[in-house]
Amino acid sequence: MNEETTFKPCDLVIFGALGDLSRRKLLISLYRLEMASLIEPDTRIIGIDRFEGSNEEFVETIHKSLQEFLNEKLDEQTWLQFSARFSYLKIDLTQLDEYQILNTIIDGKSRVMVNYFAVAPFLFTNICQGLAQCGVLNEESRMVMEKPIGHDLKSSKAINDSVAEVFTEKQSYRIDHYLGKETVLNLLALRFANSIFTTNWNHNTIDHIQITVAEEVGIEGRWEYFDKTGQLRDMLQNHLLQILTFVAMEPPVNLEAQSIHNEKIKVLAALRPITIENVERKTVRGLYTSGEIKGIQVPGYLEEEGANTESTTESFVALRVDIDNWRWAGVPFYLRTGKRMTYKRTEIVVNFKQLPHNIFKESFAELPSNKLIIHLQPNEGVEIQILNKIPGIDENIKLQKTKLDLSFFDTFKNSKIFGGYEKLVLEAMRGNPTLFLSREEIEQAWTWVDSIQDAWAHLDAAPKSYPAGTWGPADADELITRDQRAWEE
Ligand code: BG6
Repeated sequence: MNEETTFKPCDLVIFGALGDLSRRKLLISLYRLEMASLIEPDTRIIGIDRFEGSNEEFVETIHKSLQEFLNEKLDEQTWLQFSARFSYLKIDLTQLDEYQILNTIIDGKSRVMVNYFAVAPFLFTNICQGLAQCGVLNEESRMVMEKPIGHDLKSSKAINDSVAEVFTEKQSYRIDHYLGKETVLNLLALRFANSIFTTNWNHNTIDHIQITVAEEVGIEGRWEYFDKTGQLRDMLQNHLLQILTFVAMEPPVNLEAQSIHNEKIKVLAALRPITIENVERKTVRGLYTSGEIKGIQVPGYLEEEGANTESTTESFVALRVDIDNWRWAGVPFYLRTGKRMTYKRTEIVVNFKQLPHNIFKESFAELPSNKLIIHLQPNEGVEIQILNKIPGIDENIKLQKTKLDLSFFDTFKNSKIFGGYEKLVLEAMRGNPTLFLSREEIEQAWTWVDSIQDAWAHLDAAPKSYPAGTWGPADADELITRDQRAWEE
């Protein structure tokens, strides 16, 4: 057995085991963990849903679902091991007395009960009450929940309050799958283990930072959910702000969950509010129209299946964010994220300041500044753009832009790069809360985002259109060129 698997086994209870989230993400991740022998051998997986079938039929449904969503052939040996972990219970989650059935299966003495809420948030309160009432929980039990944790501060507090009646903060694991991504975690290593970055990571040397999370996908059949949410709440409130906190936080005293949470909260609290006074200068909302992505014609947002053609929800957002603290004074962060963009690309670009004097005018009238580019996905890696002399015996020194390129795949050939979900599901089973969000972080992020949302509501302006397959509306370029800067191409 792998030495990493010596944790206490779990009863992983998946509420909504046959739902979209579970089938597309959770079960795939568990299967991959199984394949890598990372799940404790005695861990069991208990699926809860409204499905009327037997245990065997449930397992068969999971089998089909894995075949559908796994981008590779199912390994039969792994499947045999994996499927042996499953049990199925039918519970109507709104009927509190039905939770009693859990007592027939949960073994709180030799296993930790990990409750994964893979259902819509309006059911969270029912689940918490049902679990409390049937008496299966103990102080080791945990709950894992996913975004959206509310759609504003008020609703987020309501969810957190109802969960808190049953689970303590220590027992509550709130997932943002970006925090499980290898390259997001690598930000800690890059920043706090390398003195060349640690000493240069501030307003003295950095001009500005860009964070781009461009998606190729559109709404993927989730029009109703997405239309109530929009890209600001769906992506920026969580994933982009989380990346931002990792880029901007002060060095934590250690890698303990509390130390990291404390530093992230300080960054969120220092975000300069975007309000009705500055919202037009600092934000751009966009909406995709039909267009072509990789040679394929795709419909516009308002032509998607189930669309309300009057919708003014944004599928793209770009922002200038200022952080009011000592380290980042005068260093803007430009954030953009959108659906149906040219291609999938998530990256952080740290643009260093220009040098005060140029002695290489023959090569460059203006010396290009150095850049550190962190590719989060796809093609995970780190790249540094520098200027080099072109080799030659000409009397003049001629410069060329070059890059130091570290691809994770080429450099760490023997290490498997797992996705964010795998990492987080594993950490939840192991009981390590470091990569999960604290209540305070989420509420701080909502406070800041609510102010933008309120300012937009006050403006009542339609989003700017951009054809699918492009990098967003022209206004997003203006947002940055106005400051004499440009998005990284
Ligand atoms: C989810 C959003 O949280 O993240 C989706 O709800 C989005 O709308 C997805 O497509 C993007 O995740 P990833 O890992 O593919 O970048």
